[in-house]
Amino acid sequence: MAEPTIEDYFTEDRSFAPPEEFAETALVTDRSLYEEAAADPEAFWARQARELLSWYRDFDTVLEWDLPFARWFDGGTLNVSYNCLDRHVEAGRGDKVAFWWEGEPGDTRTVTYADLLAEVQRFANVLRSLGVQRGDRVAIYMPMIPELPVAMLACTRVGAAHSVIFGGFSPDSITDRVNDAEATVVVTADGGFRKGAASALKPNVDAALEACPSVNHVVVVRRTGEDVAMVEGRDLWYHDLMAEAAEVCEPEHMAAEDLLYLLYTSGTTAKPKGIMHTTGGYLTQVAFTHRYVFDLRPDTDVYWCAADIGWVTGHSYIVYGPLTNGASSVLYEGTPDTPGRDRLWDMVERYRVTQLYTAPTAIRMFMKWGDHEPGGHDLASLRLLGTVGEPINPEAWMWYHTHIGGGRCPIVDTWWQTETGAQMVAPLPGVVATKPGSATIPLPGVFGEVVDDEGNPVERGGGYWTLTKPWPAMLRGVWGDPERYRDTYWSRFEGRYFAGDGAKIDEDGYIWFLGRVDDVMNVSGHRISTTEVESALVDHPAVAEAAVVGATDDVTGQAIVGYVIVRGGVEATADLVDELRAHVATKIGPTARPKQVLVVPDLPKTRSGKIMRRLLRDVAEGRELGDTTTLADPGIVEQIRDAAR
Ligand code: PRX
Repeated sequence: MAEPTIEDYFTEDRSFAPPEEFAETALVTDRSLYEEAAADPEAFWARQARELLSWYRDFDTVLEWDLPFARWFDGGTLNVSYNCLDRHVEAGRGDKVAFWWEGEPGDTRTVTYADLLAEVQRFANVLRSLGVQRGDRVAIYMPMIPELPVAMLACTRVGAAHSVIFGGFSPDSITDRVNDAEATVVVTADGGFRKGAASALKPNVDAALEACPSVNHVVVVRRTGEDVAMVEGRDLWYHDLMAEAAEVCEPEHMAAEDLLYLLYTSGTTAKPKGIMHTTGGYLTQVAFTHRYVFDLRPDTDVYWCAADIGWVTGHSYIVYGPLTNGASSVLYEGTPDTPGRDRLWDMVERYRVTQLYTAPTAIRMFMKWGDHEPGGHDLASLRLLGTVGEPINPEAWMWYHTHIGGGRCPIVDTWWQTETGAQMVAPLPGVVATKPGSATIPLPGVFGEVVDDEGNPVERGGGYWTLTKPWPAMLRGVWGDPERYRDTYWSRFEGRYFAGDGAKIDEDGYIWFLGRVDDVMNVSGHRISTTEVESALVDHPAVAEAAVVGATDDVTGQAIVGYVIVRGGVEATADLVDELRAHVATKIGPTARPKQVLVVPDLPKTRSGKIMRRLLRDVAEGRELGDTTTLADPGIVEQIRDAAR
């Protein structure tokens, strides 16, 4: 048996069986799906594809696998917007609410499936009138308003691929993405509301397009009503085009392997990668996971994924999963602290939200804001909670469980990536017991192993997380760069997909993600994951959030440096710092005692909320800062430097 490669220090013994009341009525209450999928994965996914989706033509083959290139459901044809909209309306559910939308200023719109279908057909005709054809790419740069899913679905209706560019990105990022995809149309808005004010988007598009020769037209939605410059002949108002557009647009019959969308992920160094997702396999796995991981009851649930549609979480679990399954979702435009720090809890109470899906970074922020924020609201409608995006520290998990879930809601910690398209490791909440900090076990039809440096499976302990079989929603490549696809994901371990995450496996076969392997420190020859030290720091009652990096050290190779944000009311004294260092040593062992702990006002994060450890390493090692363009608030690093002086 292989030796563990990353050391495993932090032990978390708490375990929560599915709450009885929840398990009694859950969609899945036994292991039969796991057994079915293990016995014959292809037959399992074929059954899901046929049951969850409507096909114009049934597929001939389930999977063709020529490593690393997969084709799922070849011969099958379908249309994504038909699956998300028409079939629900045809079944008499046109009046069902698709989105309870709320703008940040408090304005609301209730969008039914029939409304959405009508709007999508018109906009699909608009796209056609602007010359968009099957196979073309359309870039979308919008705030979180209903026109964003409308634009995405209209692309799928005419068979064009969308590339949604997160609304927080700068003009340079837009230029790179538009040019790489050679998009012909950009859909945007004058702006959106964030943090209590209008925040303009169109000027960023204008600046970006100075260097984008492929773009013929820009469609602009009026949201904030602020003045915008319109370029004659190029720029058109959404409302003008929609007023003229024909009502009916027949959906294109797309092949299962036709491109559905591109979504760019920032590599740490090189240019962003256009991750390619295709139609039939993606929609199958997204619908399957959305239904069974969230235990969806479309008739009665009010589901809320509080992510941004600009990230893959929003693509799969705000737009495609919920709509394919005929769910009613909350869609919110703004920030969680506007007008108060209880905005989310106020909305959960008002809409009677049943499932809430958010990120650890948000949960830790809510913790920092204090128990009284959710405490002032009736959250009894919630029956399930979800988390995604990073490892969740056990303390944050327990806080979520207690203060949001009232101790009665299962928490589904879902591990996946832009590249995987859909959730991969997560509990089925009526069956699998949860442990705070573990994403539990691979979902039915997903197969993975923790391996050591040589690629040998580790049965217990830490190593690299790899996937051993193709899955329907897997990326089909990197746009325009098949070699980069092979090199990035399939070359580190032969025959295995590896996208950079460390993980450990415990005696029950549970997976504990340890962060990206670039986030593993090497202290005197011990390989320690930043996640574990962060969890130990956050475990201390004074700490709200922590980020840990390894800084070059003459003696130990790397030394552990912790940056912490303390909870409201706590004073940052030298005694506290000593106590925190000792706390880590007690929790995980003396090797992991941080050499330095710095109390800082905030941490540098990307706009999707991931801590930029690279910048913290630069600070710890006294270097000039590297690339900060994806940083949400560039001022933060200076404040941290001050704290470090
Ligand atoms: O490191 C893992 C972390 O987020 C990475 C994927 O990021 P992205 O492509 O932006 O997609 C985020 C939303 C799916 C992974 O390689 N990650 C995501 N979910 C978890 C996680 N780490 C631990 N636990 C999770 N539940």
